[in-house]
Amino acid sequence: MQKLSVRGFDIYKGLLDQPMQQALVEAVRDVARAAPVFSPMTPYGKPMSVKMTSAGAFGWVSDRSGYRYANTHPNGQNWPAIPQNILDIWDRVSGSTRPPECCLMNFYGEDARMGMHQDRDEANFAEPVVSVSLGDDGLFRIGNREKGGSTESIWLSSGDVVVMGGDARLTYHGVDRIRFGTSQLLSKGGRLNLTLRVVT
Ligand code: SIN
Ligand code: FE2
Repeated sequence: MQKLSVRGFDIYKGLLDQPMQQALVEAVRDVARAAPVFSPMTPYGKPMSVKMTSAGAFGWVSDRSGYRYANTHPNGQNWPAIPQNILDIWDRVSGSTRPPECCLMNFYGEDARMGMHQDRDEANFAEPVVSVSLGDDGLFRIGNREKGGSTESIWLSSGDVVVMGGDARLTYHGVDRIRFGTSQLLSKGGRLNLTLRVVT
């Protein structure tokens, strides 16, 4: 394990070993059985390139009326509880005394990406965001607290964990591309990102 700091983000390279990564994939499969993965519609009328589902009291949804937290899946059911092995990662790295209320699960296929954005729909920016990378490598770009300006990029690999907190809580970030087929973790390839947040 190697801990890096890039623009205030703490990046734990190789925090999660292979058996742990496999157990996390199993846990995500269990969640996806109860809360099926969907392709959210953007407010611009184009489906997002990532597919998603959530666990916890709140899930993240997007449709023509915008992005927001919702306490039910688009199918009307409550989100499943956040699996214990995912909560354990939060306890290891977040430094928070509160439990996460949302675990967003994003699936990136070969051509998926995530544009530069801030995570700013939560009520308390003193609480960090914890992001877990599984499967194929993803090129993670880190910008600034304001839109634009210079950026730095780092490849995130399976088992890496990023903590976006403190002064960097509102720093812009995104995923430019996936290096498809770089990991054997997911049988069909692709990247899985778990994002843990306190919402209220
Ligand atoms: C996000 O910021 O929403 C996802 C980050 C990632 O996929 O690594
Ligand atoms: Fe984000």
